[in-house]
Amino acid sequence: MQFNTYLKYSDIKVELVQVCDAKLLDRLYAIDISVHTHPWSYDNIKQCFDIGQEVLVLYVKNHIQGFSVISTVLDEAELLTIGVSIECQGQGLGEYLLTKTIEYVINKQCHTIFLEVAANNIKAINLYKKLGFIQVGLRRNYYPKNSQSEAQDALVMSLQI
Ligand SMILES: CC(C)(COP(=O)(O)OP(=O)(O)OC[C@H]1O[C@@H](n2cnc3c(N)ncnc32)[C@H](O)[C@@H]1OP(=O)(O)O)[C@@H](O)C(=O)NCCC(=O)NCCS
Repeated sequence: MQFNTYLKYSDIKVELVQVCDAKLLDRLYAIDISVHTHPWSYDNIKQCFDIGQEVLVLYVKNHIQGFSVISTVLDEAELLTIGVSIECQGQGLGEYLLTKTIEYVINKQCHTIFLEVAANNIKAINLYKKLGFIQVGLRRNYYPKNSQSEAQDALVMSLQI
């Protein structure tokens, strides 16, 4: 995996963040609403911390530029969301964040990761396939029509680890 020419590994880190403050929430929410066709609400994001879902934050040169959220139950994990800020997309950072998220899940002794992704989200589907996820199901009209998108089916994908 390679970053673009001006990024070095030392510029980038992914950290589990368990305590949130308003500044962190504002940044995560700003990223979420700018990259997703069906973004979470501010409260949805805050709730991740309240109910103990695991939030992995991507820092580039100490600025938050993405995050993933996973939920683990016994040996199964679900990737609930992942996103990289628009300005940082296409540079290998989404792949790095997902790789670190998978490593985190492996360390929790999970054996499977599931996720849902809109059938028209080619970027994300390609990323998931690149890291070994395969399609294991289809949920018709899972994502409702909204101002940004027609109703979309969801692919259910999984990775055995
Ligand atoms: C999906 C997302 C996380 C990928 O992050 P990214 O930093 O842009 O992706 P990367 O630069 O790390 O690329 C990794 C792989 O993703 C796929 N990909 C990335 N951009 C792509 C594009 N424009 N077209 C097709 N595939 C693409 C490719 O497989 C790529 O590997 P490659 O460079 O070897 O071809 C990012 O685009 C994003 O935040 N999208 C909006 C939120 C979202 O859709 N989240 C997933 C659903 S919950």
